[in-house]
Amino acid sequence: MEENIIRNITIDDDNTLDNTIRPETIDEYVGQTDVKENIRVFVSAAKMRKESLDHVLLYGPPGLGKTTLAYIIAHELGTNIKTASGPSIEKSGDLAAILSSLEPGDVLFIDEIHRMPRYIEEILYPAMEDFSLDIIVGSEGNSRNIKIDLPPFTLVGATTRAGDLSSPLRDRFGIVSKLQFYTIEELTDIIKRTSRVLDMPITNEAAIELATRSRGTPRIANRLFKRVRDFAMVDKSNEITKTITKKALDRLKVDKIGLDNTDRELLLAIINRFNGGPVGIDALSSSIGEEVTTIEDVYEPYLLQIGLLKRTSRGRVATDKAYEVLGIEKQ
Ligand SMILES: Nc1ncnc2c1ncn2[C@@H]1O[C@H](COP(=O)(O)OP(=O)(O)O)[C@@H](O)[C@H]1O
Ligand SMILES: [Mg+2]
Repeated sequence: MEENIIRNITIDDDNTLDNTIRPETIDEYVGQTDVKENIRVFVSAAKMRKESLDHVLLYGPPGLGKTTLAYIIAHELGTNIKTASGPSIEKSGDLAAILSSLEPGDVLFIDEIHRMPRYIEEILYPAMEDFSLDIIVGSEGNSRNIKIDLPPFTLVGATTRAGDLSSPLRDRFGIVSKLQFYTIEELTDIIKRTSRVLDMPITNEAAIELATRSRGTPRIANRLFKRVRDFAMVDKSNEITKTITKKALDRLKVDKIGLDNTDRELLLAIINRFNGGPVGIDALSSSIGEEVTTIEDVYEPYLLQIGLLKRTSRGRVATDKAYEVLGIEKQ
């Protein structure tokens, strides 16, 4: 049973490459300075006290490094990591099996923790608080509660939606960290590192160009790096230049500021079909044929961050800057 639940989370398009370019130590982890420095302190303190690290909740848009950081935390603690994902834990026995397999000090990483069923969540409360597992054994009419002691462990939860977590669960995390979009300089560093690891040189100006078009997101930067590398190889170039980068990204329909087709479609829908907004998320969702959660978790955060979109009480509004970027005259 355990094998079904405990799996490695590298659900990316080419996951072998993904594993090689994922940083392993906290020093290799670029950016997120506040989060990183805090975690460094808490990890050192926990090690000095010979205690398990407090439970950690990491939240933020996809691709910003939550899973990577969970692995790094285990690495820095010098412990093992077991991973599971919220929706894959269906029965209370599944979670009980995972919890009872933990060794003292281990990290249990639960990805998409907001998608864990509520009745499963309740098993986590005593586990997180007192390292104890309360389970019911026996058949109906003849059942009893038993309490099993667990070794001290650290739960690292990751979510794109901290707001969807119940407050009793959220309150049990001692360390709550929000990951931010990366700056162009940070993404340039990440791209140069990927270039070294994959042994494909990139010029400084090409790295900056790629960083500028990566939506503030390391996963996108790495994915685009791999595609640009393909173009360079076919062009028989032994390094990635700015010209190749531009050509490749134009072909991939990634524009100058990193917007892709869906980003543009979303903004264009607000402007053309809803007169610039405000428009409710449901209407917008059916208009462009994307799920509400995908719009909210994947597309909106970056558009909000760079000021192309605004959220008001009456719905989403395209900003003046959005008209400007899309080259549309405001009526
Ligand atoms: N701070 C970082 N420094 C270097 N590379 C990073 C960083 N954060 C993420 N990455 C890269 O981006 C990819 C996606 O990160 P991941 O941790 O899977 O994101 P999330 O779990 O938040 O969706 C990783 O494979 C890793 O290579
Ligand atoms: Mg992840």
